[in-house]
Amino acid sequence: MSGHHDFRNRQVLLKRVPEGVAGPDDFEVRPAPVPEPQAGQVLVEAHYLQVEAALRLIVRDSKDFLFRVKPGDLIRNTVAGVVQRSEHPDFKAGDAVLAPIGVQRLGVIDAGAVQRCDTGLAPLPRWLGGLGITGLTAYFAMFTECRPQPGQTVVINGAAGGVGSIAGQLAKLAGARVIGITGSAEKCRWLVDELGFDVAINHHDGDLYEQLVAAAPDRIDVIFDNVGGEILDASLRWIALHGMVLLCGSTSQYTQAEMKGPKEYIWLGTMRARMQGFVVFDYADQYDLARRRLAAWAKSGAIKFPETILDGDVDAFPAAFQQLYDGVHRGKLLLRLPPAQA
Ligand SMILES: NC(=O)c1ccc[n+]([C@@H]2O[C@H](COP(=O)([O-])OP(=O)(O)OC[C@H]3O[C@@H](n4cnc5c(N)ncnc54)[C@H](OP(=O)(O)O)[C@@H]3O)[C@@H](O)[C@H]2O)c1
Repeated sequence: MSGHHDFRNRQVLLKRVPEGVAGPDDFEVRPAPVPEPQAGQVLVEAHYLQVEAALRLIVRDSKDFLFRVKPGDLIRNTVAGVVQRSEHPDFKAGDAVLAPIGVQRLGVIDAGAVQRCDTGLAPLPRWLGGLGITGLTAYFAMFTECRPQPGQTVVINGAAGGVGSIAGQLAKLAGARVIGITGSAEKCRWLVDELGFDVAINHHDGDLYEQLVAAAPDRIDVIFDNVGGEILDASLRWIALHGMVLLCGSTSQYTQAEMKGPKEYIWLGTMRARMQGFVVFDYADQYDLARRRLAAWAKSGAIKFPETILDGDVDAFPAAFQQLYDGVHRGKLLLRLPPAQA
């Protein structure tokens, strides 16, 4: 194939810094040449793109973020796909891999950044969901940071999302009483009936603080915070003595021109509680063990890895990203690409 004239590739770039929830006008989709792998590299065809809330944080106009994406840059993404050509002895055409090639159909990447997927352990999309950064975040945040004791009360917000839906099930495995906060009655029913949460609360449905007081008579030992803002504040008011808040994410703030911290922090003092920051990458040397444990629980039926899979070409990525914020998806949101034309 000739790299210069073969424009079967398509890419999504950031066009401008978004205001509010990012929409299609904030992205540029363009045809691009199929890149040629050099020595030590592989050419990967993306089959699944992941749609993550964290993207909205790194496209902000701020030099503070390590993985910042600026206007004109390819949108970052670790995709699940298949090696098309390899110039490295560890990989061959047809290998299923995770590869940080960004939002494009075909990308070249150094073999050292590519992770092989054992599709016998789990199908390819699950390597982005339950066995991907999403599941690993829930696992390490819950078991190494939150460490709930049997009988303790854990509140998870963003509970029906990618990270939250798995975190809640892991807290149940630890023997905790688990309360999920989400944005619709339908997702509340799903959390309780399908995922085994003890209680689910709709944050659009009246006073959240009063709902939490009613659901957690012994107050809240662990707040697993994915969204921040007013939802975090309502929970902080009801934190237990020596409770803890795990700062996994702050989705509600990523879209704000001025991000705001918690107003109800005073309860941390009164209740001798603490807030703990967390980044999953600190645990990279333990991912393999965590993946094996997560896969075994899923196989035995102890946990589920919910996924919402949209179908479309890379052109559909901006709309899929908007959908992350409309509160309809359950579990990990993925975009499945059609096979590239030969
Ligand atoms: N610390 C780490 O290492 C790490 C790693 C991965 C991800 N994260 C973080 O984990 C969080 C969850 O990520 P995810 O990819 O799994 O996303 P997600 O939870 O699947 O999707 C976002 C969900 O957040 C809720 N939401 C969106 N805007 C909101 C708002 N303004 N107020 C309240 N809720 C809102 C919506 O649920 P409802 O409508 O049901 O409320 C929405 O469905 C993100 O903050 C992400 O940055 C952290």
